[in-house]
Amino acid sequence: MKALIHSKSQEVKLITMDPPSLNNSYTDEYHKNKSNYINNIFKFIFQKINYYNLEWVLVKVLYGGLNPVDAKHLYGDKLPEVLIPSFRSFIEGSIAGIDFCGEIIDVDNNNSKYKKGDIVYGTMPPMLGSFAEIIKVPTNFINLKPKLLSAAESSALPLVALTAFQAFEDNNLKENMNVLIIGGSGGTGHVAVQVAKIKGAYVTAICSSKNKDFVKCLGADNVIVYDSNDLFTNLQNIVLKYGLFDIIFDSVTSLEEKDSKFNYYEKMTGKANNSNNLLSNNGKYIQLGGTPYQWLLAHIKRFIGCNLFPKNWELFWVRFPNCSELLGRIAEYCDKGKLKVIVSKIYKFDEESAREAFRDQVCRRTIGKIVIEISN
Ligand SMILES: NC(=O)c1ccc[n+]([C@@H]2O[C@H](COP(=O)([O-])OP(=O)(O)OC[C@H]3O[C@@H](n4cnc5c(N)ncnc54)[C@H](OP(=O)(O)O)[C@@H]3O)[C@@H](O)[C@H]2O)c1
Repeated sequence: MKALIHSKSQEVKLITMDPPSLNNSYTDEYHKNKSNYINNIFKFIFQKINYYNLEWVLVKVLYGGLNPVDAKHLYGDKLPEVLIPSFRSFIEGSIAGIDFCGEIIDVDNNNSKYKKGDIVYGTMPPMLGSFAEIIKVPTNFINLKPKLLSAAESSALPLVALTAFQAFEDNNLKENMNVLIIGGSGGTGHVAVQVAKIKGAYVTAICSSKNKDFVKCLGADNVIVYDSNDLFTNLQNIVLKYGLFDIIFDSVTSLEEKDSKFNYYEKMTGKANNSNNLLSNNGKYIQLGGTPYQWLLAHIKRFIGCNLFPKNWELFWVRFPNCSELLGRIAEYCDKGKLKVIVSKIYKFDEESAREAFRDQVCRRTIGKIVIEISN
C-alpha cells in the first residue's frame, strides 16, 4: 500500500458531480422533473486521484450514507438561482457524498491514533466526497466506528447525528425541557428524537400516520401525525399539559414548495391566521433548510461571528471539521444501546443503482436512511 501512497495517484471508481447545463434552469429541472434531474446530476467514472501528502488516513470505503444535500449539488438551498450557473464550474467534477464508513488501509507516519485495519466512520469535507472506492480523510473528521453498529449503519450516522447533537448542544438543551421534532421519521429527525431523549428532554415528534409506530419506538413521548386535521389541536393539548416548547427542531421546511407549504414556523409561533404560539419566550425554533438570504445570515454567523438571526429563530448549519470528539461520543451512545440508526435501503455501487438511490432520496419519503454499498 505504501507504493500506492507514494506513487501519488491511484485510479478508483467514484461518483462525480455533473450539474445541469447552463442552458437549463436549475429550478425547472430539480422541482418539476426530479427523474430527469437525477439522470443529469452525476457521472459514474474511474479517475486518478492523488494520495500523496499524507496528513490524513487512506480509507477503503465500505458504505457511503446518502443525504439530501448530496442530491442538491452540495450547496443545497444556499445560492440564489442567478448564481448557480457560475457556481456550476466550481463543483463540477468534485466527488459526491459526505458520510462514509470504511477500513483504514494506510496511515500517516505522524498519526498515532489510527492503524491499518481500523474501521472508522465520519464525514469527508464537502466537495472532496465519500462516494469513491478509496478516500483520503483528515483524521479530525473521523473516529472509530460504533462497535454495536454494522458498517452500513455507521455510514448512515455521521451527518445526521452531528446535526442533532450540535443543534441541541448549541442551544443548551437540558433535562426536562420540552422539545418538538418536525419530521421525526426522516434521516435527521429519527436521530434527533433519540438525541433529545438522551439529553433527558420530553419529546414530541411529528410524522405521517404510516410512520407513527416507528417514531414511537424511537422513544418519542408523543407522536402527532400531520396528515390529519387535528395536528395543531393535538399540539395545543400537549402544550396545555406540558408547557410551551423550549426547542422546535424543524427538519422539514426547505426552499421547496412541497415542504414550505406546511408553513410550520408561522403556524407554531402564532404568526399565521388562527394559530397559537407554541414556543416559549426564551425558546428556539431551529430550522435545517432555508432561503438563500437565511443561508447568507448563517454564513455571516459562521465566518464573521455575527449573529443576525432573530432571537427565537435560527437556520442551523452542521459543522464537520474537528468533529472527531463528538463522533467518539456518538459511538459511545450507540454502544450503550442509547442511539441507533435505521437503514431502510442499501443500494449497489453501479450507475443504475446509484441513480435509483439518489431518486429515492429526493422523493423525501425515506424512513431513516439510504446507504450505498461501495465495497465490501
Ligand atoms: N442545515 C444543516 O446543517 C442540515 C443538516 C442535515 C439536514 N439538513 C436538511 O434537512 C432536511 C431533512 O434532511 P433529512 O436527511 O432528515 O431528509 P429525509 O430523510 O429525506 O426526510 C424525509 C422525511 O421527511 C418527512 N416529511 C416530509 N414532509 C413532512 C412533513 N410535512 N411533516 C413531517 N415530516 C415530513 C418524511 O416523513 P413521512 O414519510 O412520514 O411524511 C420522511 O420521513 C433536508 O432539507 C436536508 O438538506 C440540513
